[in-house]
Amino acid sequence: MADPIVYVEQRIAAAFAKVAGAKADGIDTAVRSSDRADAQVNGSIALAKAMGLAPRDVATKVLEVADLKDICTDAQVAGPGFINLTFKNEFLSRELMASSASEKLGVRNATKPRKIVIDYSAPNVAKEMHVGHLRSTVIGDALARILAFVGNSVLRENHVGDWGTPFGMLIEHLVDLGETDAANELSVGDLDSFYRSARKKFDESEQFQARARARVVLLQSGDAETLRLWKLLVAESTRYFQMIYRTLGVLLEDTDIMGESAYNDLLPQVVERLRNSKMLTTSDGAEVVFAEGFVNRENQPLPLIIRKTDGGYNYATSDLACVIDRVERLNADLLLYVVGAPQAQHLQMVAAVSKQAGWLNSSREMVHVSFGNVLGADKKMLRTRSGKAVKLDALLTEAVERAANAVAEKNPELSDAAKATIARTVGIGAVKYADLSTDRIKDYTFDWDRMLSFDGNTAPYLQYAHARICSIFRRANIERASVRSFAPVISHTAERELAMRVLQFDSALWDTIDKYSPHRLCTYLYELATSFSSFYEQCPVLKAETESERNSRLMICDLTARVLQTGLNVLGIEVPEQM
Ligand code: ARG
Repeated sequence: MADPIVYVEQRIAAAFAKVAGAKADGIDTAVRSSDRADAQVNGSIALAKAMGLAPRDVATKVLEVADLKDICTDAQVAGPGFINLTFKNEFLSRELMASSASEKLGVRNATKPRKIVIDYSAPNVAKEMHVGHLRSTVIGDALARILAFVGNSVLRENHVGDWGTPFGMLIEHLVDLGETDAANELSVGDLDSFYRSARKKFDESEQFQARARARVVLLQSGDAETLRLWKLLVAESTRYFQMIYRTLGVLLEDTDIMGESAYNDLLPQVVERLRNSKMLTTSDGAEVVFAEGFVNRENQPLPLIIRKTDGGYNYATSDLACVIDRVERLNADLLLYVVGAPQAQHLQMVAAVSKQAGWLNSSREMVHVSFGNVLGADKKMLRTRSGKAVKLDALLTEAVERAANAVAEKNPELSDAAKATIARTVGIGAVKYADLSTDRIKDYTFDWDRMLSFDGNTAPYLQYAHARICSIFRRANIERASVRSFAPVISHTAERELAMRVLQFDSALWDTIDKYSPHRLCTYLYELATSFSSFYEQCPVLKAETESERNSRLMICDLTARVLQTGLNVLGIEVPEQM
């Protein structure tokens, strides 16, 4: 175990139990990092209350029985009954070595690995992916990587919108255009204009409307020719989505697609099961479920529509089928939905109905990993100058172009080939990091200059810190792996601070997992890079005074670079060795 705080926490918990026995149960024994010392324990105050004693006396008792000899130089009772702890340098050094020797750099594996289905990206066929899909893709991919990193079994599912009434008009429009022309339009990613033209015809021509309606019926009854045309639409759109995924460097593959259509066969069963559990009601001709606790603006019970008046199923119905499939076929115990905030109520209702029907319970959890909007400089939803939704591929191309300029300015000596590769890594990394580094619940402002800056909490800053460490080794012609088993000797304050940071990787990652919040890991990595920066300013590495000091510092540099690299990689961001 590498994080000193986690380590000391166990000793403190044991001491609490020794002092108070069962009364210590449920008392928060958390050890937190602190400005006054390395760490602080606040739990003695709550424990004192439970025991009816004075907090400072309890804190003193805890320290008397706590086994901290090998960990702390100093442990003191402070203020109303806090405990302040200062770690021994030898202890930090031991932990650094353990971390360096461990494959995951000190990160603990999940004690109970789970089977997790993560639903993310989920664009709609024949519609442009919008920035909301970008957020889902980037956040979902980071979480998929992080959850797998600590030993969970993670299944990615891309719940593409590939079914429903709009397909009637889309297929008829495809027939009008001719298959080749339609395919051309779609494969270059002109999904929106395809959709809009179809919609326009639908709104303007009754005859087209009738064709579209008839086509939906054919589609739902499984007519072979209609299905062939439908598949064409899906294939051309997913080809475009895959192109975006490759540019973004996310894990999603064609095999991860589990679109709405995949649940078709299950839909009648959803209705059957709800009917058997006596949950189904008829309301205005539709079959609905009234989930407890959901009301509309007029305070009337809000129905989840399962089957519409015309007999067609709904978005909610396929999401219910989806829960059944994920629980019963995939045997997942955690279902994550990385979907924008506007769908919160929909997902809450799906979860409530699934619980009531017994598909979800305390050991099968469904969590909405919600997120806010991407805003433009005007603080309104991000749009192009002409007011259209931003096309993702254009956005990513611009990111790489802008990064190319920034990189050329920073390091004009790079070869053209190196520049091009680095520009891709930096540009894409910047877009992803800007999205990941703010609390996902909040909106964030899309700002090219900020995200591509080499200063501040940005991908380029972190990538540069990593490249800088690589260049120390390159300049001195030292193999990185050769310094990994040196025992670090911590002398300088900045060195000590960096050591402490490096060792917090474990808790930063677990903190991220606890709240499904990648920005926590980002904040940690930023602090790590900042600590490295002041260490590097104050502590000569290659010109260290003694051989052992030099080796020690090289070891810490290497470990810092590995944590930066691993941390960024689990966020889905690449790190160049040179910038
Ligand atoms: N396709 C939907 C949209 O674009 C998102 C689907 C999210 N996943 C789900 N299981 N409902 O809004």
